[in-house]
Amino acid sequence: MKVVAMLGSPHTEGPSSTLAREVLRGAQDAGHEVVVYEVNEMNVRGCQGCRYCKDNNADCIVEDDLQPYWEQLHSAGALVVSAPNYAAQVCGPMITYMNRHYCLLDADWNVRIHPGIKLVGVFSQGRPDAEAYLPQYNWFLGDFQNRDMVLVDTIVHTRELSYAPGSPLMERAYQVGRNL
Ligand SMILES: Cc1cc2nc3c(=O)[nH]c(=O)nc-3n(C[C@H](O)[C@H](O)[C@H](O)COP(=O)(O)O)c2cc1C
Repeated sequence: MKVVAMLGSPHTEGPSSTLAREVLRGAQDAGHEVVVYEVNEMNVRGCQGCRYCKDNNADCIVEDDLQPYWEQLHSAGALVVSAPNYAAQVCGPMITYMNRHYCLLDADWNVRIHPGIKLVGVFSQGRPDAEAYLPQYNWFLGDFQNRDMVLVDTIVHTRELSYAPGSPLMERAYQVGRNL
């Protein structure tokens, strides 16, 4: 199975990316192929609202660094998305990326990607209350669930939780990937 990941943090060694990579390490150990993107390193424009996708029943036509991603996603069995919390919400570039999945609904609002892609969300926040932003994380993940993806787990890191190797959160992340 192919596992596609979009990491949302500018901190490649920070908690959200580290935990997401641990999910991917587990997935690799389970024999899965892993394809990783980092939105902070990419040119990803916002949805242009051009309706090309609706009028042509096609993936997004915007010519930017998401172009190879669509093909990967169509052959993926799982999608891992990670993000820091900025201003009580998933960080902006990841919302821009999420908006682009508008193209996965056709003109009649039918989903135009295979159903059942397993979805894992990994988020990091300063606030110690891990449940404080769950509505925001669920809203973000809901856009993918609306494209018939199936949520497997939502991992929330807070500043009080360790993401060092061997920590409970890292072990959970590994197991999530291992069991994909
Ligand atoms: C611009 C900015 C806004 C932030 N806003 C919040 C916030 O509203 N609530 C919160 O709990 N943490 C907030 N944080 C803290 C980050 O979510 C936290 O440091 C997180 O661990 C960063 O994860 P990362 O290193 O994986 O990117 C903010 C950080 C930045 C830089």
